[in-house]
Amino acid sequence: MKALILVGGFGTRLRPLTFTKPKPLVEFANRHMILHQIEALAKIGVKDVILAVNYQPDVMVQAMHEVEEQFNIKIHFSIEPEPLGTDDEVFFVLNSDVICEFPFEGLLAFHKSHGCEGTLMTTRVEDPSKFEWVGDQINAGIYIFTTEILKRIENRPMSIEKDVFPNMAKDGQLHCIPLQGFWADVGQPKDFLTGTGLYLNSLAEQGSKQLAPKSATIVGNVLIHETAVIGENCRIGPDVTIGPGVKVGNGVRLNRSVLMKNAVVKDNAWVHNSIIGWHSSVGRWARLDNTTVLGEDVHVADEVFVNGGSVLPHKSVSANIMSPQIVM
Ligand code: GDD
Ligand code: MG
Repeated sequence: MKALILVGGFGTRLRPLTFTKPKPLVEFANRHMILHQIEALAKIGVKDVILAVNYQPDVMVQAMHEVEEQFNIKIHFSIEPEPLGTDDEVFFVLNSDVICEFPFEGLLAFHKSHGCEGTLMTTRVEDPSKFEWVGDQINAGIYIFTTEILKRIENRPMSIEKDVFPNMAKDGQLHCIPLQGFWADVGQPKDFLTGTGLYLNSLAEQGSKQLAPKSATIVGNVLIHETAVIGENCRIGPDVTIGPGVKVGNGVRLNRSVLMKNAVVKDNAWVHNSIIGWHSSVGRWARLDNTTVLGEDVHVADEVFVNGGSVLPHKSVSANIMSPQIVM
């Protein structure tokens, strides 16, 4: 089986993180976002993954070489649907920024049972206005099609959702199936943090050994990379992920936050609802809150308060940021 992952967007809503790397390579729960999808596809027997890109950054190519070896699959870069082939096979299509338990077996079985051209997974969200909806559910960005659908695709820029699905539905060729379990589109900082909590909760429900054992320091679901160093008298969690090489000082409080590779949080800092980018640092007694996102290599001085700052890479923040704003 084959799968197509849509990775062509610019990830603007996940800035400043996407100034550093393409959205699919931003680490979600310490692994490239797209790895979660590729792993689930490989598990159900997908052997070829086609990345629908509109540009092909070297970092992406390099990262995908490693993934090919890890999962023993082929990864192709393409802006054309042709490599999918014209045999009778079914193929998956995924948005690259959705995270869930990827219940592909149920999707495949349902798709085969109705025998039509396409199946779309739907999910319920609190605020459907942000998305294209189907009744009280929204499109989860996870589909399966038979190659029959290719005859509907013309050689011009087309939106599968706007140009193809309505006609398929009219012809009775598009079915929906509600997705079970959690779902998150992690393409925006707020949802990235919420999605992290949902994902960690799902790991906990599965009894995953990856989560840090609960203790006086660890509260709720927390993921800590084995190379991270944590100081004394900290309180970490719930819903925190700590990447490789991270250094957390003494007396630090982390809650609902993501620390990317090599981030540093100094003594007595307080980080809540925030994302700290690669190689960035948070000073002593500093306080971050309200969906603050530090891009790569950002440095927040001691005792500074950042309330909802979105800080571009390579900046230093030495004065308080009292209300949400972009720092450039
Ligand atoms: N190849 C290609 N070309 N990929 C693209 C393009 C493009 O022009 N534009 C966006 N993508 C990719 C993005 O990289 C992402 O993986 C996926 O398509 C979805 O794009 P988003 O920009 O994240 O869309 P959205 O979140 O606003 O809405 C989409 O996802 C929702 C669920 O998460 C839609 O599919 C909605 O209907 C859906 O509800
Ligand atoms: Mg999205």
